[in-house]
Amino acid sequence: MLKIGIAGVGFMGMVHYLTYQKLRGAKVAAICDPDPEKRSGDWRGIQGNFGPPGERMDLSGVAAYESLDELIADESLDLIDITLPPALHADAACRALSAGKHVFCEKPMAMRPADCDRMQRAADKAERLLLVGHVLPYFPEYAWALKEVQSGKHGRLLGGSFKRVISDPAWLSHYWDAERIGGPMLDLHVHDAHLIRLLFGKPTAVTTCGRLREGLPEFWSTQFEYGPQASGVGPRRASEARSPKPEAVAVTATSGTINQQGRPFQHAFELHLERATLVFDFAVIGDEAGYLCPPTVLTEGGKAKRPHLAGGDPMDAFAGELKEVLRCVRAGEQSPVLGAELARDAISICQAQSRSLQTGKRVRV
Ligand SMILES: NC(=O)c1ccc[n+]([C@@H]2O[C@H](COP(=O)([O-])OP(=O)(O)OC[C@H]3O[C@@H](n4cnc5c(N)ncnc54)[C@H](O)[C@@H]3O)[C@@H](O)[C@H]2O)c1
Repeated sequence: MLKIGIAGVGFMGMVHYLTYQKLRGAKVAAICDPDPEKRSGDWRGIQGNFGPPGERMDLSGVAAYESLDELIADESLDLIDITLPPALHADAACRALSAGKHVFCEKPMAMRPADCDRMQRAADKAERLLLVGHVLPYFPEYAWALKEVQSGKHGRLLGGSFKRVISDPAWLSHYWDAERIGGPMLDLHVHDAHLIRLLFGKPTAVTTCGRLREGLPEFWSTQFEYGPQASGVGPRRASEARSPKPEAVAVTATSGTINQQGRPFQHAFELHLERATLVFDFAVIGDEAGYLCPPTVLTEGGKAKRPHLAGGDPMDAFAGELKEVLRCVRAGEQSPVLGAELARDAISICQAQSRSLQTGKRVRV
């Protein structure tokens, strides 16, 4: 039985806690939070944009610590699951790793690539796993797209466009604070930066245009540049078989926040392959959540085929993600999806995008 300690019981801490209850072979043995209500199990004040509302929890059998130091010092714990605000991720992870714990840390991995490097060095030194919570590949539409691309049946991946837009989360304090959360670039778009890295490899440079707010990217579009050696998970085998000199892929993303509250969330993609295009668009508009375009394969023969995808509850995506965490810890293996190297690259891609928007220049990644 793997014993888990959750650091920070806010929205994500609660989502992880509830998800571990459904998984075999793992037990949340401890939590930590400075808030005495959270430690007493009164989670009614916790709010998020999906999942069940916070309730009064029975935390008997779960140690509840006030400080991270106490949590890390708990010798019974194998894994520290960090669901703290982003600016605290790097220090918390380094301390937990140095104390011999495996670490699973929510996205964004850290505020800067240098912090990610510090975390990786701590993991290497302690010979412990460091995994990062990029849950998007476990959402059914994204899992489907990854599988279609990886299968090679549609040929080489030629490019894609990605969209992730929310209405301004005015209720979140410090959202526009570069030192605490970093606005929608690090909080929101990092999901797609990670996915783009997973699919296409690391871009060589980015050019971003858009609006700034308080010096941080508010809404933008980015062109990601790739040389002919782009190396993501998808196109390699198929492209190497068919085209010894693959052309550079064309990748764009649009993301950020808008001021009007009528569309709290939208995410979408379009993936271009040699013999098919995969499209998908989901939004919450007003009180209605639904597909603007369900996951669809546009085939060579001119058909639009719609796969039936199971699930759709975001909580299921977290179950998939945390199952992968448990598998990796048990096997002592890195994860091809949740590995720290990809998460670190996502931060450096976001940083280059921000710099490009702030300076009006093309920025090398
Ligand atoms: N994967 C996703 O879809 C997703 C969604 C939401 C949030 N997140 C990520 O999860 C992380 C947490 O976000 P959240 O929305 O749960 O935030 P939150 O503010 O709701 O929760 C943070 C918790 O950490 C506690 N905390 C603060 N300082 C602490 C300390 N020093 N020691 C212990 N506890 C401390 C706070 O009291 C609070 O309970 C962020 O990195 C965020 O980006 C991911």
